[in-house]
Amino acid sequence: MTEYSTILVSTSGRVGTIQLNRPKALNALNETVMEEVITAATAFDADPRIGAIVLTGSDKAFAAGADIKQMADMDYPAMYAADFFQRWEDFAALRTPVVAAVNGYALGGGCELAMMTDVIIAGESAKFGQPEINLGVIPGMGGSQRLARSVGKAKTMDMVLTGRHIDAAEAERIGLVSRVVADDQTLAEATKVAETIAAKSKPATQLAKEAVASAFETSLSQGLLFERRIFHSLFSTEDQAEGMAAFAEKREPQWKHR
Ligand code: HXC
Repeated sequence: MTEYSTILVSTSGRVGTIQLNRPKALNALNETVMEEVITAATAFDADPRIGAIVLTGSDKAFAAGADIKQMADMDYPAMYAADFFQRWEDFAALRTPVVAAVNGYALGGGCELAMMTDVIIAGESAKFGQPEINLGVIPGMGGSQRLARSVGKAKTMDMVLTGRHIDAAEAERIGLVSRVVADDQTLAEATKVAETIAAKSKPATQLAKEAVASAFETSLSQGLLFERRIFHSLFSTEDQAEGMAAFAEKREPQWKHR
């Protein structure tokens, strides 16, 4: 097992869990956190025994953003040369569905990281925001793009231009999170969602993720074509035959490809 210094990694059944663990810095995302999360997530992605991933933080913070102290002294050439934080896109490109369990602060890069996951479960005290404007910068890990695509212009401009935090109830109302639960149930609920996903046919869940993700990348007609072709292709799997036979026979499907 790889040794990590900023995350905790565990496996339960078909679910792999990654917990951000830099409590003194409220899980601020520095390069080490990025490399470790991506290494662990990529290993889960390649593991045929894993069907879904949970990403979580602490009670106080999912992640309070990119590490401001790491960035403070950087200049434009250094940022550009490093293509700072571009590698997080490897996390967004995972095939395995990822469920975020968010308690406490999900700010800046923390909010952007949550938005790279597929399902966000928030505790009722969670706070989301893109406060980069208060640092004299703007979101740099997808906030201006993924937030706009998920909640639209009105709320994105409000959050990105004022830097205000929104609570979990507002985040659910505007469509930023999937579900809000009691704070002490966040990880349990996220794990339950991950277990539900991981129990299904893997080609179907992974291709479903790909199809939904394409809605944010492409035109409607191209997206509809992509979806239809995937739908057609799934009729080449044993799991399509099994799933439909099980429905007709009024029994639970026994998936071959998990
Ligand atoms: C580095 C951070 C940090 C961060 C908190 N800490 N957030 N360190 N980077 N993003 C550190 C604090 O310096 C402090 O360390 C410790 O964590 C506890 O934080 P406090 O501020 O004392 O806690 P509290 O008063 O409870 O306030 C919590 C908070 C506040 C509201 C979350 O910490 C905060 O506003 N943090 C910054 C949020 C932010 O601006 N995020 C966006 C970052 S820019 P010490 O050593 O003093 O105890 C970004 C850009 C992404 O994310 C794009 C990248 C390409």
